[in-house]
Amino acid sequence: MEKEISIGLLGLGVVGSGVIQIINDHQEELQHQLGHTIKVGKVLVRDIEKVRDIKIDKNVLTTNPDDVINNDDIDVIVEVIGGIEEAREHMLKAFAAKKHIVTANKDLIALHGPELEKAAQENGCDLFYEASVGGGIPLLRSLSAGLVSDRINQVMGIVNGTTNYILTKMDEDGQSYEDALADAQALGFAEANPTADVEGLDAARKMVILARLSFLTDVELDDVEVEGISNLSIADLEYGKKLDLTMKLIGFANRRNNQVEVSVQPTFLPISHPLSSVKNEYNAVYVNADAVGETMFYGAGAGGLPTATAIMSDVVETIKNMLLGVNGNQLIKPSFTKELTPPENKISQFYLRLHVKDEIGAFASISELFNQRSISFERILQTPKNNGSLAEVVVVTHLTSLSNFQEALEQLDELSVVKEVKSYFRVEGDA
Ligand code: HSE
Repeated sequence: MEKEISIGLLGLGVVGSGVIQIINDHQEELQHQLGHTIKVGKVLVRDIEKVRDIKIDKNVLTTNPDDVINNDDIDVIVEVIGGIEEAREHMLKAFAAKKHIVTANKDLIALHGPELEKAAQENGCDLFYEASVGGGIPLLRSLSAGLVSDRINQVMGIVNGTTNYILTKMDEDGQSYEDALADAQALGFAEANPTADVEGLDAARKMVILARLSFLTDVELDDVEVEGISNLSIADLEYGKKLDLTMKLIGFANRRNNQVEVSVQPTFLPISHPLSSVKNEYNAVYVNADAVGETMFYGAGAGGLPTATAIMSDVVETIKNMLLGVNGNQLIKPSFTKELTPPENKISQFYLRLHVKDEIGAFASISELFNQRSISFERILQTPKNNGSLAEVVVVTHLTSLSNFQEALEQLDELSVVKEVKSYFRVEGDA
């Protein structure tokens, strides 16, 4: 017999409103999938009287979390209040009340995912978070279910729309970092306080979730090396163009010989790499696995309706599990012992920009230093600076280890012909 399945929402911001809109607009599609209708039973808000864009009966709204969490009529709770501590407390209470939870909260899952999954499992509840990475891109289930039989070796992602927008404007319009950020803020992509986005923390949290799923190992936020885009100079992006390289903030998760590396940093990619064509606020995740080879997931990484589709996919999965009586089987089951890749096994190419004294033998001594460390150059550019007293030298190395490259940088600092190491970046994707 058809029944009405009731969901509760914690929060009614942009994403929560998107969830309600999809439930209203796509009820027929949802009913075809489930054989049941879905209704919104209760919604936790801060202010019941606030004017909202969506139509919702005021009787459904409450300011008391218990009206959602301990409500016998509610089967599934959608957590979209964000933040960490309050959301975590609500979730733990909800599991104790045997509620299934769907969340978009990447910060919470990255920091407390294992604890919450344990609580969910102990209570026979589902905990899903498809919307936590890549907004509307159907990504997490593709990795955990679609590629379940494969062995994922590498995940490279543009998982932050704000920084991708800023880098696109710097690259295509020659805007400074500050101007591009102001533009992103005016358009509503970047927050008034953009620190978590521009310093790479938002991307790092998403990469923790992707790495856990891809490598089935318990990666934590502290394992991720993070560098943002706030110190980028337009000069490097201009050199990148001359070298057919595009600068992206790349979340990188790599597994080689059971060692795992997860990092976020501005990275040069060849313009021919699929991630180079991902522009503006879009997100994309490139995956390389043994059997499937290369595959890429692309789409809107944020926004109310796109993110709500990801939430609703989890809601439908949870309801299907309820109908089958199989809730409590979590998306992530970390099972391999974590071994982090040491710097000597982190292999990539590097871009390096130097200011050197423009005198006889200057380049030869730099080249000799790299020779001694068996680092060869793939590309070299040299431009006169300061009326010819200095030269700006840009090189792209062939593959070498991070430790070897870092030691070369230390030695460069001691060379009398080197005025300054201006910048260096990882180069990925077979430049
Ligand atoms: N601040 C995020 C971004 C929003 O810019 O991608 C989605 O997590």
